Amino acid sequence: MRRIGHRGASGHAPENTIASFEKALALGCDEVETDVWLAADGRLIISHDPPAKDASLTLGEVLEFCRGRMGVNVELKSEASEARARETGARVAAELARGADGDAYVSSFWWPALEAARDAAPPVRRAFIFSDSPERTALLAGAKALGLWALHPNRAYVTPELVRDAHAAGLRVNAWTVNDPREIATFASWSVDGIMSDYPERVPRG
Ligand code: G3P
Ligand code: MG
Repeated sequence: MRRIGHRGASGHAPENTIASFEKALALGCDEVETDVWLAADGRLIISHDPPAKDASLTLGEVLEFCRGRMGVNVELKSEASEARARETGARVAAELARGADGDAYVSSFWWPALEAARDAAPPVRRAFIFSDSPERTALLAGAKALGLWALHPNRAYVTPELVRDAHAAGLRVNAWTVNDPREIATFASWSVDGIMSDYPERVPRG
């Protein structure tokens, strides 16, 4: 199972900061999840919420810190704008492709952001995040059409059937945000591929 630090290792250090990514690395993470916005000034800024004017940590800096050390799951954020979500997906995917960051990939609640990422840089892996219970057949057909690599369900929507059907369709399943060791053990027994946790040391590796 892949040990994925959520927003770095946000149970131990302020989320989405270099300190948090350093902690995730020290805790043996295979990868970290982080959130990125296309700011008004055109920069790609790391932040869970819409970035404040003085927010300064960029995607490029995080990729540089993680390169060759651990993977990066870049969550594409947007607020109430599909066009902005598309632009974000295209910009981020292009940046990942340019840096040849094979260990970095994109994920999003925004399907259009993933479509734009595919159009901009097809080799960059893509994962769909959800926090509901999409109709399974439609979800898997859509995933195939878009060439998704993985599904990222909220923990409440992870079932053995979802994992089974996703695997049969060639998709990985990475669940979020799972902090309870008993739930982590249950998901491991269902063959979930990766777990995003604020306490990533609780996720067994391998
Ligand atoms: O990427 C999974 C998870 O981080 C999505 O929700 O609000 O924590 O960014 P949120
Ligand atoms: Mg996130």
